[in-house]
Amino acid sequence: MSFTTLPFCVEVSERGEYCVFRTFVVVLGMTALGWVTGSPSFLLGQTLREESRRAGVLVGTAVRADRLSEPAYAATLAREYNLVEPEDAMKWWVLRPSRGEFDFRQGDDIVRFAQAHGMKVRGHCLLWGRSNPDWISQGGFSPAQLTELARDHIATVVRHYAGDVFAWDVVNEALDENGEPRDTIWNAGLHSASRARRMEYIEQAFRWAHAADPRALLFYNEAEGEGLGQKSDAVYAMLKDFRARGAPVDGMGLQMHITNLTVDAAAVASNIKRLTGLGLQVHITELDVALPVNADSSLRDPADLDRQAKVYADIARACLQTPGCTAIETWGFTDKYSWIGSSSRHTRGWALPFDRVYQKKPAYEALHRALAEKPPQNP
Ligand code: XIL
Repeated sequence: MSFTTLPFCVEVSERGEYCVFRTFVVVLGMTALGWVTGSPSFLLGQTLREESRRAGVLVGTAVRADRLSEPAYAATLAREYNLVEPEDAMKWWVLRPSRGEFDFRQGDDIVRFAQAHGMKVRGHCLLWGRSNPDWISQGGFSPAQLTELARDHIATVVRHYAGDVFAWDVVNEALDENGEPRDTIWNAGLHSASRARRMEYIEQAFRWAHAADPRALLFYNEAEGEGLGQKSDAVYAMLKDFRARGAPVDGMGLQMHITNLTVDAAAVASNIKRLTGLGLQVHITELDVALPVNADSSLRDPADLDRQAKVYADIARACLQTPGCTAIETWGFTDKYSWIGSSSRHTRGWALPFDRVYQKKPAYEALHRALAEKPPQNP
């Protein structure tokens, strides 16, 4: 924090030494008050990104390219976060308006914003069974043509962003709730083939991505398998197998969309531990905690904000207790722009750390406190 940003020192006529002395006294006073109230970092006004750097993790959010021109959105984003991930801008339906075209404009805007503000970029996502344009999902392509389209897409996109995107979600949500491979266009025509054959495209995608940018960290990203159970066991087994055979996988993304205000944080912590035990990094990639709302979008129960804060803190702590968990990212940061409204048919909302007018919610404070609690890490 520079002295010139402190309100106690703004008079131009003030002598430098006196100003510094007064600032010192005020900061000392605030710190002492902080000890009394137990929240010194709050009084000093550190942002999430400052706390996260001290704690040795990244703190990030999904972002919408078309909102970067909104001053409050951009200012909050740049002030609080050191990691961004395009919410949609690097998905097929945005990048690939047609078979012969790549449209990098939105993704490039996000990369430019990140670079201007010293933030890292996570790419999301190279292959997913959803968010694909009709020309491919309904194009009647043969399995061989789809394989070629996937290979070309991954090579072109990863090369385009080489050096700008430090980590990619290479494959998203490939397994169902039982841990079986979902049928998608990427394994089309293989419905009655063996499980291994239906999963082959996943490993193949990692190999193509690695060839296109050997320095990028490559993640498998999955939903609803963050704790312990059949699905997370299947993900773990798949990644263990990849590691054993030298497939270039570096990390696991735990999405963490919470819809019922409860999370088994101990199970999440155990899962993180076993994944990092494979030598993988773990990122919490899409954290949000949806709350029930009335028809006018008001909260059903205002006390839910505190319950929500506890869920945020529990998840952040589950990550922070294991050194290999290196990023905590929410799926958006302001309730003004969150996928929860439309995806829940407006029965849920208020899922993120900032409200609709960019005010900090208890969830923000909980995340901040969890980061501040972690002893400083060596960079
Ligand atoms: C969602 C976006 O937030 C929406 O804007 C879009 O309409 C659909 O996709 N899991 C994922 C994300 O991996 O890509 C999804 O994002 C949310 C669920």
